[in-house]
Amino acid sequence: KSSMAVEVEVFEKEALAVSLAKYVADLSNKFTQQRGAFTVCLSGGSLINYLQKLLEAPYVDSIEWGKWHVFWVDERVVPKDHEDSNYKLAFDGFLSKVPIPSGNVYAINDALSAEGAADDYETCVKHLVNSNVITSSSISGFPKFDLMLLGMGPDGHVASLFPGHPLVQENKKWVTSITDSPKPPPERITFTFPVINASAYIALVVTGSGKADAVHSALRGSETADKLPAALVSPEGELKWFLDKGAASKL
Ligand code: 6PG
Repeated sequence: KSSMAVEVEVFEKEALAVSLAKYVADLSNKFTQQRGAFTVCLSGGSLINYLQKLLEAPYVDSIEWGKWHVFWVDERVVPKDHEDSNYKLAFDGFLSKVPIPSGNVYAINDALSAEGAADDYETCVKHLVNSNVITSSSISGFPKFDLMLLGMGPDGHVASLFPGHPLVQENKKWVTSITDSPKPPPERITFTFPVINASAYIALVVTGSGKADAVHSALRGSETADKLPAALVSPEGELKWFLDKGAASKL
């Protein structure tokens, strides 16, 4: 954990979205130039709202959308057109508005059970590692995504990895199912911590005073920090927290 680069920045609401758009666009340029592809993992929740500036000038026309490959950090096991679907949230609010080839958008298979969908997603990621669309970590051997965009719940959960849940400890699987999520809906699939922490870049986007206690515990440490999934986000690459004033109010 010691060598990891961590940055924390506190924003007014509008400024957060502006800064996040520049951050994502800069990384898109870096990776599309370096390797001709940019692998991005989206979360559900409020995150998609904070990506809206990417749909405006200058980014909408400068980003090489054709080289994006889009994944989900976690997904609810519901049909893709269900209102609880993270795919639907991202499609309606973002993906339908940019020219990313549909073949580069990797949604979960919504015809399968939670377990089946997790295995299927892991197989999909394996193929893309084998074809060098996704990089592989030379340190851990886990897939190394260029950018993961994470939200955090008031309980400190990230992805669908919840405090005190045994899946927080999963260290072999890349993708796992959860059928007892404390946040509804109960059936989900999620990337595991080894995959999250193999990432080149992680943005943790957290807003609202309801999350101030969890932000404090994750960043300033406390007895409960080791039980907070957000405190376990520790990528090989760089981590940046994007906080609004409410979320940062107890730092
Ligand atoms: C999900 C999300 C989840 C989310 C956090 C924060 O499917 O539920 O991926 O991990 O990012 O719960 O959500 P909010 O930003 O809406 O609070």
